[in-house]
Amino acid sequence: MPTQHTVIFANSQYMPEIKDGSIQLMVTSPPYPMIAMWDELFCKADPKIGQLWENIETNEVIVRQTYDLMHKYLAKVWTETHRVLCDGGIAAINIGDATRTINKKFQLFPNHSRITEVCEQIGFTALPYVLWKKPTNRPKYKGKGAFLGSGFLPPNAYVTLDCEFILLFRKGKLRKFKPHDPDRYESCFTKTQRDVWFSQIWDFKGARQTISELERRTAAYPDEVAQRLIRMFSIKGETVLDPFLGSGTTAKIALLNDRNSISYEADLNMQQIITDKLEKAKTNKPSNITITKRLQ
Ligand SMILES: C[S@@+](CC[C@H](N)C(=O)[O-])C[C@H]1O[C@@H](n2cnc3c(N)ncnc32)[C@H](O)[C@@H]1O
Repeated sequence: MPTQHTVIFANSQYMPEIKDGSIQLMVTSPPYPMIAMWDELFCKADPKIGQLWENIETNEVIVRQTYDLMHKYLAKVWTETHRVLCDGGIAAINIGDATRTINKKFQLFPNHSRITEVCEQIGFTALPYVLWKKPTNRPKYKGKGAFLGSGFLPPNAYVTLDCEFILLFRKGKLRKFKPHDPDRYESCFTKTQRDVWFSQIWDFKGARQTISELERRTAAYPDEVAQRLIRMFSIKGETVLDPFLGSGTTAKIALLNDRNSISYEADLNMQQIITDKLEKAKTNKPSNITITKRLQ
């Protein structure tokens, strides 16, 4: 049976198109709070963040308030996700922490721990997470690897953030299946896949990581991230949600793995790249693609 892929250009803080409990898996990567490339998005999305941002360099209280509001913005999406997931459904969130110097003070913004706290408050159960070792994260200075801080002298240097997180949460109890459920057995992974995918550290040495300039600008994750998560936590014929679709990676990989998908993206500039990706993927797997806009 052809799978169904729906992309909705709209704000995913509200997902009225999706019924309660109808999604088995969410795979996503949101804009990262306090990472410079997403400042403008947060300021435009919430005028209160925009106002605070104008005075961000004045005091620590404003920095804290801004950071809180950015996570409140994301929390609305996690709450909607909890509503639409089925009992036992899994939410997989790729997020990086941020380091930043504001008011001459260098500090860490631990986005992963904030999202974990928020998701637990919403009612999710936190599960063991993955650390994705990203070779590209190390800052470069004149073509060489560089560390932040004071060179070779203790104690004022900083550890470089080399890893991002793939946070995993479950809604409710474990999912139940009939004995020998054929779809479940058809979706099995190999021993090697199990050993690598369910290890805590993911290092894609050898896996293809090339992405286009536009994908780079939207901080696309490599196909391999979506591929592993979709194969680990869903079954053929089920539906995967991405509330922050970006360049369309999650929907493409769902299509190629015989899953349905429903995705949201706020930026209409992404329409062409998403359409091209899904149309190309469709040549290998017959599937129905619907792209709509919600005006609100
Ligand atoms: C980190 S990017 C996602 C990258 C994606 N994983 C990929 O592989 O291309 C986050 C995306 O979320 C979108 N976005 C931010 N807030 C949104 C919202 N409230 N509703 C829908 N999309 C949103 C941004 O426009 C951006 O494209």
